[in-house]
Amino acid sequence: MRVLLTGGAGFIGRHVHTQLVAEGHEVVVLDSFRPDVHAHKPAPRPGLIVGDVRDAEVAQSALHGIDTVVHLAAKVGLGVDLDDLDDYVSSNSLGTAVLLRGLAHAKIRRLVYASSMVVYGEGRYDCDVHGQVAPGPRRTEDLDAGRFEPPCPRCGAQLRPGLVEEDAVLDPRNAYAASKLNGEHLATSWARETEGHVSALRFHNVYGPGMPRNTPYAGVAAIFRSALERGEAPTVFEDGRQRRDFIHVHDIATAVSAAAGALSERFTAYNVGSGTIHTIGDVAAELARAYNGPTPVTTGQYRLGDVRHITANSDRLRDHLGWKPTYDLATGLADLLRSPDPAPA
Ligand code: UD1
Repeated sequence: MRVLLTGGAGFIGRHVHTQLVAEGHEVVVLDSFRPDVHAHKPAPRPGLIVGDVRDAEVAQSALHGIDTVVHLAAKVGLGVDLDDLDDYVSSNSLGTAVLLRGLAHAKIRRLVYASSMVVYGEGRYDCDVHGQVAPGPRRTEDLDAGRFEPPCPRCGAQLRPGLVEEDAVLDPRNAYAASKLNGEHLATSWARETEGHVSALRFHNVYGPGMPRNTPYAGVAAIFRSALERGEAPTVFEDGRQRRDFIHVHDIATAVSAAAGALSERFTAYNVGSGTIHTIGDVAAELARAYNGPTPVTTGQYRLGDVRHITANSDRLRDHLGWKPTYDLATGLADLLRSPDPAPA
C-alpha cells in the first residue's frame, strides 16, 4: 500500500513511519517542519516532501498515486494563551479541509485521522443517585479553593469517574480540542460525499522515546523527565489525583497501521488508550523512582483548560481491528528515561 503520512516528521509520525515501513508499505511523508517544533528544515529527499498541508498545490501533488492517507499533521497541546487560537484553527481545521479537498480530487477513499481524547472534554462520570451525568466546565472559584473533583451537576454529590466510550457526548474545552473535533466533522462530511472511509483515532496521553521536551506543547511525562534531569522534583498540579490513560507511542503506531490497513465504516471513531488508568501523581512518583530522583511536589496549581479525569475504553479498537497495546507504564517510562533527546530535525 502507498501511504501519505502527513506530520510524519513529528513525535508520533516518526514512530508511525517506522511501523508502516516495517510492515512493507511505501510511505511518503509530508511535513512542514514547523519552526516551533523543528530546529531547521531538511532538504526534500525521496519519500519526504517538505511543505505545508494547507498549501493546496503541495497537498495535491503529495497525493499523487496514494492509496491511503494518515493525517497526523497538526498543532498539538493545550496552547499557551488565546493568541494561539487562530493558529489552531488554521493548522488543524484548515489543514484538514485542504487535505480532504485534495483527497476528493485525487479520488482517494481511505483516511486515518489523528483525533484526540480531548474531543470528549471531561471523561465519563456516574452519580450514585442520578446515574451517568456530564459535569460542566470547571469553575475558577472551585479550583482556587482546591475543589478539583467536578460535582454532580444535579445534586452536587461526589461522582465516580469511569471509562469514556466512543459514542459519548463530545464537549471540547479548548481551542486544540475544538479544532480536532472540527477535523472529525469535516472528515465525516468528506466521507459521506465521496463514499470514503475514515477512522478517527482518539489518542489518549501519548509518551515515549522522541517525545517533545522543553516546548510549550510538551506532555507531562516529558516535563517530569526534564525536571528530574535538572535535579529538580517533578511538579504535580492540582492534588495529583487526576486520572489519565498513558499510552506508549509504539502502541499508537501499531493502532495507526491497523487502521490504515482496514476498511472502516463511513466514519468510525476509536479510542486509543492502554486501558490501564493512572493518576498524574503516580506517574510522577514512578518516574522519580525509576530515575532515583527527588520526590515529586504536589502544588495545587491548575490550568483552566485541563479536564479532571479522562480515561478510555478502547475495546472497539481491539474488537474491530485486533489491536493490542504491549507496554505497561513501568516498562514504557523506563523506555522513555533510557531514550536520548529527540534529535533536532
Ligand atoms: C495531552 C496532550 C494533548 C493530547 C492529549 C491526548 C500535551 C500538552 N497535551 O493532553 O495534546 O491531545 O494528551 O493525547 O501534550 N500536569 C502536571 N504538571 C505539569 C504539567 C501537567 O501535573 O508540569 C498535569 C496537568 O494538569 C494534567 C496532566 O498533567 O492534569 C496531563 O497534562 P498534559 O500532559 O498536558 O496532557 P493532557 O492535557 O491530558
